[in-house]
Amino acid sequence: VSNGEERLTIRTLVDEDLIGLTKLMAAAFLLDHTAGFHAYEQSVFEPSRSHGVFDDGTLVGTGQMLTRRMTLPGTGPSPIAAITSISVAPDHRRRGILSMIMREQLDTLHAGGEPLAMLWASEGGIYGRFGYGLASDFVRYRVPKGTPFRRGIELSTDRVRELPREQAMPLLRDIYRKVVPTRVGLLERTDGSWEFHLVDSENLRNGMSALRFAVHPEGFAVYRVRAGWEDRGPIAELVVVDLIATNPAAHATLLRYVLDMDLVGEVVLRLPVDEPIIHQLANPRAAMRAMIEGLWVRLVDLDQALPTRTYAIPLDVVLEVSDPVCPWNAGRWRMTVDDGGRARVRRDDAPADLTLGIDDLGAVFLGGTRLTTLAAAGRVREARPGVVARTSLAFLHSSEPACTEQF
Ligand SMILES: CC(C)(COP(=O)(O)OP(=O)(O)OC[C@H]1O[C@@H](n2cnc3c(N)ncnc32)[C@H](O)[C@@H]1OP(=O)(O)O)[C@@H](O)C(=O)NCCC(=O)NCCS
Repeated sequence: VSNGEERLTIRTLVDEDLIGLTKLMAAAFLLDHTAGFHAYEQSVFEPSRSHGVFDDGTLVGTGQMLTRRMTLPGTGPSPIAAITSISVAPDHRRRGILSMIMREQLDTLHAGGEPLAMLWASEGGIYGRFGYGLASDFVRYRVPKGTPFRRGIELSTDRVRELPREQAMPLLRDIYRKVVPTRVGLLERTDGSWEFHLVDSENLRNGMSALRFAVHPEGFAVYRVRAGWEDRGPIAELVVVDLIATNPAAHATLLRYVLDMDLVGEVVLRLPVDEPIIHQLANPRAAMRAMIEGLWVRLVDLDQALPTRTYAIPLDVVLEVSDPVCPWNAGRWRMTVDDGGRARVRRDDAPADLTLGIDDLGAVFLGGTRLTTLAAAGRVREARPGVVARTSLAFLHSSEPACTEQF
């Protein structure tokens, strides 16, 4: 592909492109290109699923489609394309390079029969135009040190141990492997994605400590601290990177462990929106909550994508979908869901029950964003009362998507 007036070409990357990719990414993300940054990006690099845009031989734009698996409503971990490394050289912006990459990615996924793409956006205004919908938020909690639980929250009798990274990692992997299929929105982690998620090179720590590993037989907390002192005493900030447990007592025990850490002023946790913490605290208002935009989902081929999950109630609706970027999705589709929650989606000429965009379907796909909310936003229209409400219910799941892992 090339875009006429400039000499821009796009191709799949090869191993030798890694150094160019990491240099471009560092430049695009306003970071220094260090050995640590290079190793960080190398841990997940998939050249054959990466694209580069070249201006007369110089790499000026990149994007990757990492091979990951995510637990979806009613199914175990299922393949998704994790879109990342989207970078355009600072001196080549707003000339359509991101658009070239998006086009190439969507065409590649469509041709390869991969119906789901997901991403974290650096800025919220970038990806809607390419058909991505905001599917999941997360909550950043700030809880004062020592905030007590209400009475009756069960704790585990097993102790939490602080372990060095090498000792902790195999235990973390075992626990995480058990939890992934039980929680919608969790991503299976490969060796590379563990490395990437728990990156610890000094210039990527944001001025904080190295990672610390608190491990319980049925869960773990990974955290960093930013030391701080003021006249009244210590005010360190403890930032939890991962808090994962296989059962509520282990979860509460780990939460208690970080909340009771000496010398800490405040504990910061980045958690799914339905985490139980608020309902465990004696004073729920002690925790400040900021709801932040999380994962964006793109249905590349909606008739393939929608049946990859199950639905909460039976359904029979005709959808009129607009999708200017992937016209193969546009038009009318009948979506039926049987008593077992299994969906079928096929072309249909019947009058539409619901009119919506492909980004709206992406937004509701994980059961996080509600279709009723999109209708209230004026984005989704129904031909008769009740269709939005029923369809919205069908897309919900027993828990919110747990999307906090950035890739
Ligand atoms: C974001 C970025 C990739 C955009 O690349 P680009 O090549 O300048 O984008 P394009 O020229 O293809 O723009 C396509 C459209 O998106 C819009 N757009 C681009 N960046 C945008 C942004 N940050 N916010 C809102 N809209 C944006 C453009 O205005 C254009 O709109 P139009 O079609 O209405 O004209 C680039 O600015 C960049 O590398 N930023 C720093 C790194 C980064 O944030 N990467 C994204 C990681 S998730």
